Amino acid sequence: MKLLFLALPSVYRLAAFVGVGIVLGAVLAPGTGLAQKTMQQEAAAIFRPIPENPPKLPGNIVTPVKVELGRLLYFDPRLSASQLISCQTCHNVGLGGADLQETSIGHGWQKGPRNAPTTFNSVFNVAQFWDGRAKDLAEQSKGPVQAAVEMNNTPDRVVATLASIPQYVDLFAKAFPGQRNPVSFENMAQAIEAFEATLLTPGAPLDAFITGDESALTPTQQEGLRLFIDSGCSDCHYGINLGGMGYYPFGVAEAPSEDVRPTDDTGRFVVTNTASDKYVFKSPILRNVAITQPYFHSGKVWRLRDAVQIMGSSQLGFELEGKDADIITEFLKALTGKQPEVAHPILPPSTESTPKPMTQLLPEKESGKKG
Ligand code: HEC
Ligand code: HEC
Repeated sequence: MKLLFLALPSVYRLAAFVGVGIVLGAVLAPGTGLAQKTMQQEAAAIFRPIPENPPKLPGNIVTPVKVELGRLLYFDPRLSASQLISCQTCHNVGLGGADLQETSIGHGWQKGPRNAPTTFNSVFNVAQFWDGRAKDLAEQSKGPVQAAVEMNNTPDRVVATLASIPQYVDLFAKAFPGQRNPVSFENMAQAIEAFEATLLTPGAPLDAFITGDESALTPTQQEGLRLFIDSGCSDCHYGINLGGMGYYPFGVAEAPSEDVRPTDDTGRFVVTNTASDKYVFKSPILRNVAITQPYFHSGKVWRLRDAVQIMGSSQLGFELEGKDADIITEFLKALTGKQPEVAHPILPPSTESTPKPMTQLLPEKESGKKG
């Protein structure tokens, strides 16, 4: 506990001063021009709007043909051993980039250990996965393809599958010009990354507000924004995605119930093997959070308002009163942006040499690595 206190003093500081914050919030209530301007500027300094266009990707030159290839691969179930499961299965572009399951269902109807985070805006994450074990989207995408409980495939089989389909061979050659073996597992990952970087949701009410449209947030949402900042939520949920920027113990102030934070998932501890990283997770993206229930890495909480209250007690050390939980929840609804319209691609047909689907469950040691 003492260690945690030292690691996160500002959270405690803010928790201690939350009373002051609430009073301030009331004094600077929406309606007085000066207060509003201050809050707009303050919010603009903590959060950033989602851009209309994808950012540059380090080490991955993005071209239209590479994005198109990535779109095909994202929707192609032949990346999985069963040829039934695609990225889209668990990160549905029509459902906020997530799957509405507590924890994902993968190969052989196996239930995975964690909730699927959204792929939307994930290009801005400091690292990928709840525990940050993949440094970027390209590295990340190799995980689920091989994970036994997800797509359960092997890199060799994926490459053999793609190489058996002439249209893919052609597209890989165009997307990776000048390479001797363009159809590779690495290039599959790069193409998927290029496509995923286009899955952005600009134009949320919060973005309109911080870029100058005072009426974009309702008065209640403005109160919620004030509380979100003053009570310390934005200490961990800041930046362009209001999350995805750092790692924090889930249970800074008080351990959540075992149902919400199962004891067998120690989070980042498994990545770093450092005692202080027990039950440490990446603060998730709060963009579009109102449409990507259920919540937390366990997916055990279905109501956003309940998730907000759990954050109050577990991260800040106080119960958010009914009304305060309501208005923060209202504010979180202002994070839903324009959803990307992605047409389902027509996928190039398999050929006689395409490996056949494998739907049986493999013994553990033969199946793919942990994603
Ligand atoms: C069976 C369901 C399933 C499939 C299929 C799947 N994923 Fe995931 N995805 C998950 C789950 C569950 C997690 C969280 C796992 C963890 O953190 O340990 C995740 C995490 C991610 C993340 C990290 C997001 C973040 O905020 O950290 C990205 C990006 C992602 N998946 C993209 C993909 C891509 C691309 C594919 C296809 C190659 C894919 N996923 C296939 C379930 C799935
Ligand atoms: C000390 C850092 C910290 C603070 C402060 C904090 N959070 Fe979180 N938040 C996290 C972490 C870490 C998670 C992921 C927990 C998990 O599932 O393992 C999370 C998860 C969430 C989720 C679930 C999102 C999802 O998609 O599953 C919501 C909603 C949320 N926080 C809102 C808030 C609100 C509102 C506040 C203020 C009342 C707040 N948080 C304060 C770190 C923090």
